[in-house]
This record gives sequence, C-alpha cells and structure tokens, in this order.
Amino acid sequence: MLAAREHWGSRFGFIMATAGSAIGLGNIWRFPYMAGENGGSAFILIYLAVVVTFGISLVMAEMVLGRVTQRNPVGAFRALGGRGWALAGGLGVLTGFVILSFYVVVAGWTLAYIVFMAGNQLPTADPAVLGRHFSGFVGRTFSPLFAATIFMGLTAWIVAGGVGKGIERASKVLMPLLFVLLLVLVARSVTLPGADPGLAFLLTPDFSRVTIDTIISATAQAFFSLSIGMGVMITYGSYLPRNVNIPRSTLIIVLLDVGVAVLAALMVLPAVFAVGLDPSAGPGLTFITLPAVFASMPFGNLFGTLFFALLAIAALTSAVSILEPMIAWAVDEHGIGRGAATLAASLVCLLLAIPASLSFGPLSDTTLAGKTFFDWMDFLANNVMLPLGGLLVASFVGWRWAKPACTHLTNDGTLRLPWLTAWIWLLRVGAPVAIVALVWQAVSTP
Ligand code: PHE
Repeated sequence: MLAAREHWGSRFGFIMATAGSAIGLGNIWRFPYMAGENGGSAFILIYLAVVVTFGISLVMAEMVLGRVTQRNPVGAFRALGGRGWALAGGLGVLTGFVILSFYVVVAGWTLAYIVFMAGNQLPTADPAVLGRHFSGFVGRTFSPLFAATIFMGLTAWIVAGGVGKGIERASKVLMPLLFVLLLVLVARSVTLPGADPGLAFLLTPDFSRVTIDTIISATAQAFFSLSIGMGVMITYGSYLPRNVNIPRSTLIIVLLDVGVAVLAALMVLPAVFAVGLDPSAGPGLTFITLPAVFASMPFGNLFGTLFFALLAIAALTSAVSILEPMIAWAVDEHGIGRGAATLAASLVCLLLAIPASLSFGPLSDTTLAGKTFFDWMDFLANNVMLPLGGLLVASFVGWRWAKPACTHLTNDGTLRLPWLTAWIWLLRVGAPVAIVALVWQAVSTP
C-alpha cells in the first residue's frame, strides 16, 4: 500500500528548494576559481551558453519525468521504460552516495572556517601562513571528520523532517538569507579600493585563454551546478502537482543558479585583485586566498564569518537534495520509513566520507593512478557519473519518450512553447555529443 505522495506546499517553496539544490559549493567555491583559472568572462560566457542550451533542456526533461511518474529516479524510469531503464535511475541513486562522500567533507571545512573566522583565529594576510593553516587543518584525522559529521547530521535532520516540513521549510528560510548575505558581501567586495582590475578581468573576455578544455570544463560545471544527471530534479519534480508550469519554473531556478555563480565571482575575484593575490589559485581560493582578503579589510572577521556562513548554507540545501533521491527510492520502492532510511543512508555516506577526508592527511599518499580517494570520488561523480546520467535522461526523453514528454511539458497543450522541437533535438543530439566529448576527454587525459 502506498501512502499519498507528499507535495510541495507552494510554488515559492518548490523554487526555493530546487534553487537550493542547484546553488551550492559548485557556485560559490568552484565557479569563481574556475572562472579565475579560465580567463574570467570568456569562461562565464561559454558557461552561460552551455546552461541555456543543454542545462535548461536537461532540467526540464528530469522534472517532467518526475512529475508524470510521481516517483523516485528508479521508479520513474521503470514506470516509463521498464526494468532495463530502471538501471539509469539506479545509477543516479548511486551517484548520490559518491557525491555526498566528498561534498560533506568540503562542507565540513566551511563549518570549521566559520569558527576560525568568528574566533579570530586567522589574523594574518599572508597566504603562505594561511595555506599552512588550511593544509594543517584538513590534514588532521579527527577534527575535519567531526565537522563533516555535524554537517551530515544537519542534512539528515532536515531530510528526515519530510518534503514539506523539512526540505521546503528549511529552504524557505535559508535561501532568502543566502541572497541577502551574498548581496552584502558583493557590495563590500566591489567597493574595496583596488577592486577595479578584478572587475575588468571579469568584464573583458579573454578568448585567447579559451580552448576545447575550457568548453568541456564549462559543461561539467553546468552539470554539477544545475544538479543534473543524478535524479535530483526527477525527485524534486515528483513532488510537484500537475498544473505547475515547468518551463517557467526551470527558467527562474536556472537564472537564480547562474546569477548566484556570477555574483559569487563578483564577490571573490575583485577582492582577490584588491589585495594583489592570484586569481588562479584553484580550489584553495576560498579557504586560503579569501581569509587573506578578510584579514586586510576593516571588520574582516565579521565579513569572513558571514562568508563562510553563506557557503555552509548553500552547501546544506544542496546536500539535502543529494540525499533525498536515495530516501525517496527507499521509501517508494522498499517501503522503508523515512526516518530509518535517512539514518541508514547518512551512516553509509559518513563511512565513505572517512577515506575522503583522510585523503588530505593520513591517506594523502595512498593513491591510485595519482588520485587520492577524494580525487577519485570527485572525478567519478563530475566527469563520469553525472554526465552519463544526463546522457541517459537525454536519450530516454529524446528518443523513446519524446511525444509524451512534449504533451506533459506543455501541460496537455495548454502552454505554447515554440522551442519544443529544438528542445527534443538538443536532447537527441546536442547533449549526447557534448557529453560523450566530455567523458571521452576526462577518461583519456590522466
Ligand atoms: N548543485 C550543487 C552545487 O552546485 C551540487 C549538486 C550536485 C547537488 C548534484 C545535487 C546534485 O553545489
């Protein structure tokens, strides 16, 4: 016996939860350093092009699958495509475990940095000292794992609360808070003396730095940032009532996601230039370069604390959405209670987080083909599993289920969508070509 499926309480709640999924470490931690490494606005323009074509198409395809079937990814694929296709949903559920295992580790660092900032433990603007502090902290055995456990606990607590009382309620509070914090920090950053070169870097595209690799990284970034390829959008779509305008909601969510990524770049890069640091510092940009920026501005501790709080909030609503498909699968397909499923899945994720966290300390020399456990999880998720999941969604909707997909996307013909044919062909050909190029490049270059 199936209990009636829970639905989002309001369109606003749905949009906040889904934007909360999309907006995460990918936007605030990863996007600015990728833009910094890849020629600033040239990368941003390419990223935008990928998002408005493949990105939007795949988000809509996943949402339609979820809304029509009212099921988790496995159940959705099985209902429409049979047993074989159910494996595509299974891949999504599995991808969730892989992503969470390293996501909670980085999210734990952000919690720790809130404490460091608030406690004035990083009172230096010297990146070398800050770099040692960062690698010293992440290299420890217990403290980063403790932080990851707290973060996992918060995530589980929200998910266990259910769709409406847990996920939707938390998102409706956390996301507006995130937008306010972000605007405060951008305003602070762009008004710093010496921010202009950073702004120029972001506003004048340098196409000479664009290579095929740039396009491929932009594509991978779009998958991760829009939460596509692992069934999050199928699952969140499955809590939608029938009458919602999916294209319009998708547009709002994607605009919010892209907007936050660009604002994050506007927050990080001008500040980095203002204090004369290197914008292509890579993943350490957030945890090493930014504390140096905060140390050299008035009330830096306050702004630093707010910044890491922003990052933790963004990570939390995303982690919730990475956990939810597994829970929906356990609940829908196996009749397990939400609380028990959440507890079990969280424990498995934490177990996987142990080697991911230790990859920066005791296990840093334990590598396979030059990659640590953390690197492998990150690589597999971003460059193989998410793109593959996206390929399966695109092929399924584009080739096997195109007609019903169009009927459902237009709410039985009540919405006029002049780009419907373009959508189907992007799913049939455009997205698969881009994805195959991405995966090919990823597995062929070590
Ligand atoms: N989109 C999230 C981010 O940018 C990460 C994520 C990936 C969430 C895949 C759900 C699924 O951080």
